[in-house]
Amino acid sequence: MVFKALLISVLAAFQITKGALIRRATCSDGTVVANSACCVLIPVIQDIQENLFDGGECGEEVHESLRLTFHDAIGISPAIAATGVFGGGGADGSIILFEDIEPNFHANNGVDEIIDEQKPIIAKHNITTADFIQLAGAIGVSNCPGAPQLNVFIGRPDATQPAPDKTVPEPFDSVDSILARFQDAFSDVGGFTPAEVVALLASHTIAAADHVDPSIPGTPFDSTPELFDTQFFIETQLRGTLFPGTGGNQGEAQSALAGELRLQSDSELARDSRTACEWQSFVNNQAKLQSAFKAAFRRMSILGHDESSLIDCSDVVPVPPAPASDAHFPAGQTIDDVEQACASTPFPTLPTDPGPASSVAPV
Ligand code: HEM
Repeated sequence: MVFKALLISVLAAFQITKGALIRRATCSDGTVVANSACCVLIPVIQDIQENLFDGGECGEEVHESLRLTFHDAIGISPAIAATGVFGGGGADGSIILFEDIEPNFHANNGVDEIIDEQKPIIAKHNITTADFIQLAGAIGVSNCPGAPQLNVFIGRPDATQPAPDKTVPEPFDSVDSILARFQDAFSDVGGFTPAEVVALLASHTIAAADHVDPSIPGTPFDSTPELFDTQFFIETQLRGTLFPGTGGNQGEAQSALAGELRLQSDSELARDSRTACEWQSFVNNQAKLQSAFKAAFRRMSILGHDESSLIDCSDVVPVPPAPASDAHFPAGQTIDDVEQACASTPFPTLPTDPGPASSVAPV
């Protein structure tokens, strides 16, 4: 009896993963992890929540850290590699490790700010730069009400070479070119569908632009940049009538709300026959927004690596706060303002916010 109880408790402390015995553990802060190697992340997370994200906010540094996960990971091109030139290593930290090169690429305009904030934190901890970039994005997103609990993996080796230029899509790229770029980046791991591209763009629900129209830095892409909600997918579907700043900027389309900026790429993806129905499907569907973004982010965050060589540390990610908004038309806007692009499904019925036509504040 005693032996059996002992055996059960020993087995409970281990789980067999892919043939190897993995040690469960309770980390210093009480977090229970399936793999004790993940406890190394607890002090890193405490540090970034306190010193990067201002005590757990969903603010500018979270937005910038999420953008950085993408700009590092998408730096991989099997098509370039096929020409005999190094095509980039994906999520390999190269955007920070080669900070004299990659941040100077046009599409990376502005990433130097978050790099300057992340570098001293990375230096304090025993973690690769590649792992840190993706960890910071996932932890940051967990501060945003409505967000999914993203996956975290560790074990990515750091880059030894920079990614080539032109791997990061630009807001003035055509839909053809954007879809092709994602397909290329993921071509060694089964490709990436237009639906997955749309799902990944849910990131723009917690986003603003500093450099598209430099006269109005911090101009958000939706009216709720601190919430991981579906407003981005609603508001990009509204007829564009104004530029929030000077207008005439490369990669900018007219938006529907004062104080809100619309990227040309988002505008076109919302209206292209290959992506419009998927775009509309996120309107008023918070559950799909969460699950589809989580799945697409998981694939993006390990680009360039074989998942079986990484350790899944997703249990260190805090549960994000519940959604804090219901899908709605901003004040002054109704279904009549929607540029319906999905031919097969009607736009969902939504309430309009009361009050005079709204304008969005910078972040
Ligand atoms: C078609 C692909 C994409 C294009 C063309 C694009 C373009 C842009 C542009 C031009 C900005 C504004 C940068 C600035 O002026 O400060 C921006 C911001 C941002 N992007 Fe994207 N993006 C794309 C996909 C993604 C993806 C896949 C993610 C993450 C998974 C992402 C996350 C963000 C975030 C969080 C911001 C806000 C940064 C901030 O507020 O400081 N983007 N994006």
